[in-house]
Amino acid sequence: MESVCDLTKGRVANRADDSDLACAYRTLRKHTLSLIAPLTPEDMVVQSMTDASPVKWHLAHTSWFFETFLLREKADYIPFDASFAYLFNSYYEALGPRQPRARRGLLTRPSLDDVLAYRTHVDTHMLRLLNATPSDATQALVRLGIAHEEQHQELILMDVLHLLDQSPLKPAYHPNAPAEALGARGRFQLRPGGLVDIGVSHTDFAFDNERPRHRVWLQPFEVSDRLVTNAEWLAFMSDRGYSRPEFWLSDGWSQVQAQGWQAPLYWQRDGETWLEMSLRGVNTIVPERPVTHISFFEADAFARWAGARLPTEAEWEAAATDGVLAQMDDVGWQWTNSAYLPYPGYAPGVGAVGEYNGKFMSGQMVLRGGSCFSPAGHARPTYRNFFKPEQRWMRSAVRLARNISSDAHNGHGNHAGFAADVVRGLSARQKSLSPKYFYDAPGSDLFEAICELDEYYPTRTETALLSVAAADLARQFPENAVLIEFGSGASDKTRLLLDAAPQITTYVPIDISEDALRNATLRLGSAYPSLAVTPIAADFSTEIVLPNALNGRPLIGFFPGSTIGNFSQAEAVAFLRGVRKALKMDANRDAQLILGVDMVKDEGTLVNAYNDAEGVTACFNKNLLTRINRELGGNFDLDAFQHLAIWNPDLNRIEMHLVSLSDQIVTAAGHAFAFKSGERFHTESSHKFTPASLTRLAEESGWRIDAHWMSSAPEFGLFSLVA
Ligand code: AVI
Repeated sequence: MESVCDLTKGRVANRADDSDLACAYRTLRKHTLSLIAPLTPEDMVVQSMTDASPVKWHLAHTSWFFETFLLREKADYIPFDASFAYLFNSYYEALGPRQPRARRGLLTRPSLDDVLAYRTHVDTHMLRLLNATPSDATQALVRLGIAHEEQHQELILMDVLHLLDQSPLKPAYHPNAPAEALGARGRFQLRPGGLVDIGVSHTDFAFDNERPRHRVWLQPFEVSDRLVTNAEWLAFMSDRGYSRPEFWLSDGWSQVQAQGWQAPLYWQRDGETWLEMSLRGVNTIVPERPVTHISFFEADAFARWAGARLPTEAEWEAAATDGVLAQMDDVGWQWTNSAYLPYPGYAPGVGAVGEYNGKFMSGQMVLRGGSCFSPAGHARPTYRNFFKPEQRWMRSAVRLARNISSDAHNGHGNHAGFAADVVRGLSARQKSLSPKYFYDAPGSDLFEAICELDEYYPTRTETALLSVAAADLARQFPENAVLIEFGSGASDKTRLLLDAAPQITTYVPIDISEDALRNATLRLGSAYPSLAVTPIAADFSTEIVLPNALNGRPLIGFFPGSTIGNFSQAEAVAFLRGVRKALKMDANRDAQLILGVDMVKDEGTLVNAYNDAEGVTACFNKNLLTRINRELGGNFDLDAFQHLAIWNPDLNRIEMHLVSLSDQIVTAAGHAFAFKSGERFHTESSHKFTPASLTRLAEESGWRIDAHWMSSAPEFGLFSLVA
């Protein structure tokens, strides 16, 4: 016997020419009959609940659809039975009254034989119509009729499963009935988001609700490549997921209580184990299989429990189109977080057929994908299935998504933030990445080595300048002052200020690197026993939050090293404003910030400082690729890129790039990135200043320059700003 599984694949889809449309029609109708082969006549009469319909009704209704929308339009067509217009109309108001949905199971007449004869009658006339060169409009309606009956093929399996589950005998529909393949735990895939197009643009068949194609903005997000498994669902259950209101939407929690939900629809407990009713009968739960037959409310609660959320339909479609989703349409329809609403510009079909989708656009949620109950070829990535949030007899499943929180962009070695920035940076037309990602442990060591290089004058020059200026600066520091250093690193220059100003009693180093903070705290703690050191591990470039304990204390900011030069103009202004706000805890006192900046000078000196003879800066630059390879599974070949440092006179900055030495494709963070030969990956800008440009920057940020010290060539400046 041909297995039911194979039969579900028996579809010829959406052929453009008429003879194939006739073939598609015949295949469709044959397939519907194959689905009822395992059933008894009694199985086909009973309606197990209002949402479900008897199989006999499905057989008749799908024929009624072709008869009503295609055959009745023909003058010479004689309906099979005039009463069927009432009995088998589903929900079309424009076509008059109908048998109430909840009473479809009371239709013991017409008999099953009469319904099958009705199907044959409709088939004869439909094939005549299809063989007589139908118009484009007729063909479009036939395609809709085919898609409609395919939906009922899936409904037949859903309704039969629900019906058989009501029986104390729990009979199997068929030993080879459709079932999903074994799953595996999903892995979150990072998606860059951005502007994406969703919906249908092609002229092939699609439902009206999939149009028009339109543009949607997506924040970067993560989506699981696989569906949630039974094992994961069991973990949710054993963590009392069904008893903890904190995971549930209010309406969902009401349903849990009213329906007594404790597990997915077809699960039943047998002592310590869980069994599941399926079309193959009752079997022990297989932990690796995806969980199915859950409501939106359950899916949503599970997602919250798992620290995730459901994807929106646009996220789902974008990820599906990009090919990152497994188990897309062969297990279960996946709940999305999107309400079923019209796309912008949606226009339903004209006449009764316009009732097909549009009038259901309220109170339902979209599901995407397809299921093992769907006939082969029925689903497509733009398909919008929809059900009410409490329904669970359809083959539904759960795919998780996650936000990439802005917090995750802070470079604290946060994987998701790093991955998101790499994907975004390498997907852009001008590839770039924030220089903050240079500073993993090897990168920090390489930077320390750079500071020792002959060519790299800034560290040495600034240190010398600071030892001259420290006494002057210290004279202005109030008693019991707090020194707050942004990007403190090894805290070496700090000592010059601490030595000159014993009135500094608290030191707050802020740095991304916890290692650097720990080492600096230990070293300073033993060198300055009376100094309180309060380290803060944070990305000061995004947010500055100081401990409340500093309230009322005089605060002095310290930002040496010309690190401000690594910010863009906008970032520099935002940073200086943020520092001003943070240091202005005491409104009665001026805030003070000591800023070290590198000055514009001759190009040769500048370029040499970033392109040293030993190649240490080149290693520092390329270490970014090593870090991407290690942390994000990248495959950058370091020899296929060349370090480049150039002076950009228009923007007064040294730019560091990695130049691709060939046309190449590199993968990282689960994405592929194409590099053209000679293409530049911009890794750092190091802005240089003039007294005038620094004055402008300070003023734009709410500061004023109170005093400054300038080294002799190569010029480096120390500025005391007040606000
Ligand atoms: C940390 N920063 C100020 C250094 C600079 O000069 O821009 C980083 C650096 N890049 C290459 N060499 C040094």
